[in-house]
Amino acid sequence: MTLWAQRMASGPAEAMMSFTASLDVDRHLGPDDVRASIAHVHGLERAGILTAEESKALTTALRQVGDELEAGIFAFEPADEDIHSAIERRVTDLAGEAGEKLHTGRSRNDQVATALRLHTKRRLAETAAGVLELQRRLLERAREAGEATLPGYTHLQRAQPVLLAHHLLAHGWALARDVDRIGDASRRLDVSPLGAGALAGSSLPLQPDSVAVELGFASRFENSLDAVSDRDFVAEALFACSMLAVHLSRLGEEIVIFSTEEFGFYRLDDAWSTGSSMLPQKKNPDVAELARGKTGRLIGHLCGFLATLKGLPLAYNRDLQEDKEPLFDSFGQLALALPAMAGVIETMRFDLDKMGTAADAPALAAVDLAEWLVARGAPFRSAHGLVGSLVRESLERKLDLGELVAAHPELGPEAAELLEPGAAIQRRRTPGGAGSEAVAVQLERFAERLALDEARVAAFTPPS
Ligand code: ARG
Repeated sequence: MTLWAQRMASGPAEAMMSFTASLDVDRHLGPDDVRASIAHVHGLERAGILTAEESKALTTALRQVGDELEAGIFAFEPADEDIHSAIERRVTDLAGEAGEKLHTGRSRNDQVATALRLHTKRRLAETAAGVLELQRRLLERAREAGEATLPGYTHLQRAQPVLLAHHLLAHGWALARDVDRIGDASRRLDVSPLGAGALAGSSLPLQPDSVAVELGFASRFENSLDAVSDRDFVAEALFACSMLAVHLSRLGEEIVIFSTEEFGFYRLDDAWSTGSSMLPQKKNPDVAELARGKTGRLIGHLCGFLATLKGLPLAYNRDLQEDKEPLFDSFGQLALALPAMAGVIETMRFDLDKMGTAADAPALAAVDLAEWLVARGAPFRSAHGLVGSLVRESLERKLDLGELVAAHPELGPEAAELLEPGAAIQRRRTPGGAGSEAVAVQLERFAERLALDEARVAAFTPPS
């Protein structure tokens, strides 16, 4: 029987139930619903609505339900519309008459919003922990890279040499913003909707503040209509997941390109590569490709859910039930992608010769030549023009750029030394830039930030 069967003259149509039921998806909210229900029971007891015995019977039954769900032995019934009705039904089986009092002063509208906030808080913290793990791998590889260089690219054309450590940490800092964003989303969602009822609160003397405290929320809702209809926290979590996925996708794309024979900068470990069913020689970067490919799906979840929200009148509408599938799937995919990408990063090999040779191509020091002239009083625009014309000449006449520079009256042998392997990178001195000294500082700062973020994530991880 559904929770609302007595209102209806007939039982629900089968196709109606198939279409509207959400149990297959929201069963993942089981532990969160049990937790929120226990806090609700305590609130009812404090309000004098339940006796101490009734409260005990209900919390004991709820804990048993929690255990049954965890052990996978909870017996669902066809009339269970969602996890919330299933739990209430089972509690009533176990606690008898007291079970009938569980839903006092509560609606599924505030119940589902509460459980989903608890769930989202937990999953955001888990996701952030996965990001930190990937960042640690990047930091290790960056430390180990020492003075190794590769070309930095713009427009995927070789631009200037950079340290490999600098390149790896560029991804690390993007991920640091993801950790930050997840922390922000977690802070904003930290509001308890429990006590808002269906939409307007209750005539019973409930104390939403006290259940908020018991559930570890930073505060309670200010407006009951807003409390049951607000899914900003889902949209924000979906955005934080999507942005993180976009970063994984960019890293993935780079691994795909750099591990081609054409580039040959990265070589993937066999344990983290796949083979081909037909072509015996193949070794494919499928983890990186799926990190890239699945990002489309996460972006779709964000866009789709924003579209679900955009026309909804206050307060609760069943449309909101569509919040869980995209959210759970986004968290689920990231929980798989993050450790896989960490494994790829941890185990891949760098072809330092190939990268270094590419980075040492003389033309990559062209701007250093121009800046050498600037240091001697030339306006940058004319210095840029002079060097550009030498580069063109060397390409057109197939001449060595270094020789042209050495022979040029405004440049000469001292300037030509700038084109020697490794010279350009030594001259880079901007803080935060790609030069050796700046990167050494950056490595320290990144490690400090990582330690700080580890503490921050620990602080918003709910106790299990
Ligand atoms: N499964 C529903 C959801 O996730 C629960 C709320 C149902 N409330 C209602 N008034 N029909 O949104």
